[in-house]
Amino acid sequence: MDTRRTAVVTGAGRGIGAAVAARLHGLGHRVALLDLDADSAAARARELDGSGATAAAFTLDVRDPEAVRTVAARVSREFGVPEILVNNAARTRSRSVWDIDVAEWDDVLATNLRGGFLLTRELAPAMRDRGWGRVVNLASLAGQQGGLVAGAHYASSKAGVLVLTKVFAKELAASGVTVNAVAPAATRTPVTDELPAEQLAAAEAAIPVGRLGRAEEVADLVAYLCGENTGYITGATFDINGGLFMR
Ligand SMILES: NC(=O)c1ccc[n+]([C@@H]2O[C@H](COP(=O)([O-])OP(=O)(O)OC[C@H]3O[C@@H](n4cnc5c(N)ncnc54)[C@H](O)[C@@H]3O)[C@@H](O)[C@H]2O)c1
Repeated sequence: MDTRRTAVVTGAGRGIGAAVAARLHGLGHRVALLDLDADSAAARARELDGSGATAAAFTLDVRDPEAVRTVAARVSREFGVPEILVNNAARTRSRSVWDIDVAEWDDVLATNLRGGFLLTRELAPAMRDRGWGRVVNLASLAGQQGGLVAGAHYASSKAGVLVLTKVFAKELAASGVTVNAVAPAATRTPVTDELPAEQLAAAEAAIPVGRLGRAEEVADLVAYLCGENTGYITGATFDINGGLFMR
């Protein structure tokens, strides 16, 4: 049986999303890399497959419901009906709860929470009809414990991702589609590279494992959850945080 699937990864232009796209592609899946930043997604897709046959970039703003509908249809038509969806695109903002203005609150929520809601509603029905699908949502330690450095809007959006994961998991459980959340913390990506060196050193000192995580480590966990043999795991949250939060 050919178990190569078509996968959609949002925010695949850099960081964890790029690592997830590369890992899924390495496993033989066809990967659609979606990102607001068209150039970075195109560059990552070219690195995976210069011919465009098994990796292709699509420009998408996950905040835009109309664009989500259009791009989801385009991917299905031009590239293959997606059976794997990784909702990874996010906006990370660190700001005191007292200083967040309404526009920034709405923008972070629209990207991090509404984006995954829209993509899942658009793509999961075809998975349900085929009787197989995998959805993985990138949450965060911030959504479990409040942010270390990220703001209240980011943390609230990620808490929303955790419960939205369970809602979709229940809706889809009987039809072979699993929906799970991965909750990383302090993973080295362009986001952490922008932090001041002292803040990074303090973060490392607070992590029991003694270092930041690697995007490839998160990607391996996401890829595992997208595998053929994980149909009994759904509605779950997987922590990958170097021991920062144990439960
Ligand atoms: N890096 C960490 O330490 C960490 C910790 C916890 C959770 N996470 C989560 O993991 C995921 C990836 O994190 P990262 O550090 O790689 O982030 P990143 O900022 O490096 O990458 C995010 C990607 O999403 C894209 N994006 C942003 N807004 C978009 C939009 N409206 N539409 C489409 N694409 C958009 C960006 O262009 C970028 O390519 C995020 O969901 C993040 O919240 C990361």
